[in-house]
Amino acid sequence: MTVETVAVDLPGRAYEVRIGPGLVASAGAEIAPLLRRPRVAIVTEDTVAGLHLAVLQDALSAEGIDSFALSLPPGEGTKGWPQFTLAVEWLLDRQVERGDIVVALGGGVIGDLVGFAAAVVRRGVRFVQVPTSLLAQVDSSVGGKTGINAPQGKNLIGAFHQPSLVLADTGLLATMPERDFLSGYGEVVKYGLLGDADFFAWLEANGPRLRDDPAALIHAVRRSVQMKAAIVMRDETEQGDRALLNLGHTFCHALEAATGYSNRLLHGEGVAIGCALAFEASARLGLCSQEEPSRVREHLAAMGMKTDLSDIPGELPGAAALVDLMGQDKKVVDGQLRFIMARGIGQAFVTTDVPREVVLQVLEDAA
Ligand code: GLY
Repeated sequence: MTVETVAVDLPGRAYEVRIGPGLVASAGAEIAPLLRRPRVAIVTEDTVAGLHLAVLQDALSAEGIDSFALSLPPGEGTKGWPQFTLAVEWLLDRQVERGDIVVALGGGVIGDLVGFAAAVVRRGVRFVQVPTSLLAQVDSSVGGKTGINAPQGKNLIGAFHQPSLVLADTGLLATMPERDFLSGYGEVVKYGLLGDADFFAWLEANGPRLRDDPAALIHAVRRSVQMKAAIVMRDETEQGDRALLNLGHTFCHALEAATGYSNRLLHGEGVAIGCALAFEASARLGLCSQEEPSRVREHLAAMGMKTDLSDIPGELPGAAALVDLMGQDKKVVDGQLRFIMARGIGQAFVTTDVPREVVLQVLEDAA
């Protein structure tokens, strides 16, 4: 099966996203052209290390590249100052230089933390993303948003720092637990919904068999990455269009905060529910027909995904408290909530013009 390439052509910081099976096993050959000396630092986490670190290190050795690895605990709790400090000081202890490459092997937590560490060590070293989850392959590894969580909220500390290469090995997704895979799929659906109605229709037809069809999986990852790359090239630092990537996220962040960022709701599950709610709100505002939110929910349900607040286990705060939680989102501008609404599937746009009563009603009806 061929490896696909998507170019992220940012001036002075251009890089490739390579997509296909077997990319970890060929990582030595992929990374070698970037190196000024044959050694790399790898930062990963314990679960991923058990599955994929040996393959990566063997692939590097096969090209004569020395590697040394730091493995952090898995989970969102790692994405804070203590593990960040540990990673930064480890990179300095290992005498990582400006010209060296740091490899982030893991899902979104590792990619974000390691990217941020690479952004600040010696005022910036290059890094390679080797995303091991569907969510990281289609979203967090591409586009250069790096960072950690603060007690005040998620991703509030960070930097834009683009990777020098992304190796999205779709073969790794076979070992993902189903729930995590479907959570990543929430971000895949988001791309169809925000800007490509044909891709959404393709997902309706092909989504349920993605795990059994490697070529279809590559297509889904490639189309998602292409869409993300195009938006990032237009608006790297989210002054405008990049906010479209936050379709479903204003609702999602309130739900994640309400569930304590716990296992009750994974990020991509919240994105999927948030997309359904955003389409519902769009229909109520007369922006699109009522068939569109129904179609979104039907597809999520056909995939076996959560579609409504009632699908989230445990008690949730009432609609008014959820709207208050939205006010703490970092997408608030001049105190006004920014929403991504849609004029139809594939036609999302950014607006601050969504009355609180409409949001309240949508949340009440979804409970
Ligand atoms: N995950 C949203 C973005 O990269 O802008």
